[in-house]
Amino acid sequence: MPKRLALFNGLPPYPGGKRRLVPWIFANLSKHVPAGEWSKLTFLDAFLGGGAVSLFAKAQGFASIACNDWSYRSQVVGQALLRNQNQILEEADRICIANSPASGIFRAQFTPHTFSSRHAEMLDQIHQAAQAIEDPTQTALYQLLLWHLAGDFVCFGSSIGTSNRPYAEALDGLRSWDSLPPKRYLDHSLHSLLQPTWKLVEKRIKAINQSVFGGSPVQLFQHDAIEFVRQTPGDILYLDPPYAQTVRYEAAFKTIDRLLSGSMQADPPSGFSKSTDLLNALFESAKSIPVWILSYGDKTVSLEELKAQIQAHRPTARITTHARQYTHMPHVSENRSHQELLIIASPQ
Ligand SMILES: C[S@@+](CC[C@H](N)C(=O)[O-])C[C@H]1O[C@@H](n2cnc3c(N)ncnc32)[C@H](O)[C@@H]1O
Repeated sequence: MPKRLALFNGLPPYPGGKRRLVPWIFANLSKHVPAGEWSKLTFLDAFLGGGAVSLFAKAQGFASIACNDWSYRSQVVGQALLRNQNQILEEADRICIANSPASGIFRAQFTPHTFSSRHAEMLDQIHQAAQAIEDPTQTALYQLLLWHLAGDFVCFGSSIGTSNRPYAEALDGLRSWDSLPPKRYLDHSLHSLLQPTWKLVEKRIKAINQSVFGGSPVQLFQHDAIEFVRQTPGDILYLDPPYAQTVRYEAAFKTIDRLLSGSMQADPPSGFSKSTDLLNALFESAKSIPVWILSYGDKTVSLEELKAQIQAHRPTARITTHARQYTHMPHVSENRSHQELLIIASPQ
């Protein structure tokens, strides 16, 4: 990743996250609203997700930002990296985590099927340390650290809660290392599993701190997106709903959500993941906001169809359409023919 984007290092891995697309999105926005005007405008991000778009907007110096996502996990990112303007993880936090007693809760709940005992213990210590503090920003920073490490403590980031059992069992001495696929010794998937735990903690603390900076003031909401858009005044609205028939966030993040919120109850599935039906209600609720930016995938709908749908709500707007080849999570995806769509509508 180019050095200038080191500010993204603290963001958690997020399927459908836009960190590699933000320069393209904002370059196209500037053709509708010149960048020189952004400092007077409020930017709304209705589906915050892993936070890439709001973090980039915060660095661009918008007058203010309001971001929203109904998931608890996105509140963690929003609190730790978006609302937070200057608080980083410091030596005192390392000491606090190191001295925090591991209650054994994570060990009981997540070994040996998800994490090895040693890794579950570190997650437990961070969780306990987070519980013991009252400052919401510091709590969120600890939770974000926990999220990052949960990804480091499994063979592939995408295997949290699914297929890490053989690796966790090998680390715990419950099965022979010889029984693991030989490929895993060659493709670096075991690399972070075998690192000393504290080395990974240090690495992630550094990465998280790189994403903490003073920028636009940020407000954070946890509403249904349609309500958020209806109620929140703003100038530029970014919409990045789950694309129909692709990632189901509530299922993909089941284990992370359990780790972060402690709740065993999975969130209900989003209607946006099922079909494009909710898009009309979303556009209808956005009528008072002058500029819209929509990100979408081409799996179930074409660029022309999406444009026509927006045009029906914004008959007099200037609408531009953009598309590019894009592979989400290229390390695991085999689909290279996917198109990322972008539609921008603004007053003529
Ligand atoms: C495609 S992701 C957003 C990715 C984000 N732009 C980024 O760069 O990381 C979609 C997000 O929408 C959230 N979501 C799904 N349905 C929602 C709803 N009805 N209201 C609010 N958020 C919703 C999911 O929790 C998920 O985080």
